[in-house]
This record gives sequence, C-alpha cells and structure tokens, in this order.
Amino acid sequence: MKKNIVVVIIISSILIMHSLAAAEDITYSSHIKKIFDSKCTACHGSDTPEHAEFKKDKEKYKALSKGMRMDTYPHLIQYIGWPDTGAVMRRLDDGKNTVNGKPGNMYEYLGSDENERQANLNLFKKWIGNWTLKRWNDAKKEDIEGMHVKY
Ligand code: HEC
Repeated sequence: MKKNIVVVIIISSILIMHSLAAAEDITYSSHIKKIFDSKCTACHGSDTPEHAEFKKDKEKYKALSKGMRMDTYPHLIQYIGWPDTGAVMRRLDDGKNTVNGKPGNMYEYLGSDENERQANLNLFKKWIGNWTLKRWNDAKKEDIEGMHVKY
C-alpha cells in the first residue's frame, strides 16, 4: 500500500515537472512573434505610433484602423507588465475572465476560426504565465512576479 502511494507521488511529480517545463518553453522569439506578425502587425506594426502619440490623436488613428506600436519585444511587454499592465490580457481574453463575460475586442484577431483563436490564446497564456486582467493600481507584487514573458 505504502509502496503504491510512493509510486503515485513519484509519477505525479514527474508529470507536474513536465507540464512546468512545457509552459516555460513558450518564448517570444520562437512562438509569439510569429503569431503577432501574422495576426496583429497589420495594425500594430512599425508604421504605427507609440502609445502616448496614439493617445494624442486617437480618432485619426482609429479611422485609419491603426493601433499603437507593439511589434517588438520591448513594445509588446509594456502592454503586459508596465505601464499598461494587463492590456494584452484584457484585449485577448475570450470572455472567461472578463467582468461582463464578453471577449476582449482583439480576441477575434487571434485566428480565423474558434480553434485557431483558442490555440493562439493558449500560447499567449502560457507565454505570459499569470493571466491577470488587473491594471497597475490593482496589481499586487505577486501578479507581476508571475508574468514570465520569456524572450
Ligand atoms: C484591424 C486592426 C487591428 C488588428 C488586426 C489588431 N488590433 Fe489591437 N488595436 C487596434 C486599434 C485600432 C486599437 C486602439 C483602439 C482600441 O483601444 O480598441 C487596438 C488596441 C489594442 C490594445 C490596447 C492597448 C491599450 O493601450 O490599451 C491591445 C493590447 C491590442 N490592440 C492588442 C492586439 C493584438 C495582440 C492583436 C493580434 C492578435 C491585435 N491587437 C490585432 C487595431 C487592431
């Protein structure tokens, strides 16, 4: 009986370690950049303004269907960690974590069908780690520490 318990514990630990390793392996350079380039760059590429610039002339950029620049690693992580904490999560969430149960308005761009959107959302979630929709003022130290966003 005791032996069985030990075996179960060993197997579970191996499985847990495997799943952690798999989660760690999602990186910007091997997974996220590809998705971003094919799904988001058209509106968030190098021809789009920095966040502050966008804010100054919001309506003009929106009318052109242009967002703010996010097409490099340092640009993108500003919308995850700081200063625009949780923005990527609020916009990409499929509705499971939003207050009103509706998907964020960038979720639709994650794929051309629900399967692709869910698969890409899953990669973003694994890459980020702590999928919190909180803004900077509500985020705790642990919320930020739980974000991995490996390059
Ligand atoms: C068709 C154009 C278009 C596409 C494609 C697009 N976006 Fe956007 N995005 C915008 C525009 C315009 C805004 C600004 C208006 C708004 O806030 O909704 C925006 C806003 C955002 C914001 C909010 C930033 C902030 O300051 O709060 C995030 C995050 C975001 N987009 C992420 C993405 C991601 C990730 C993708 C790819 C999966 C993507 N977007 C695809 C046009 C687009």
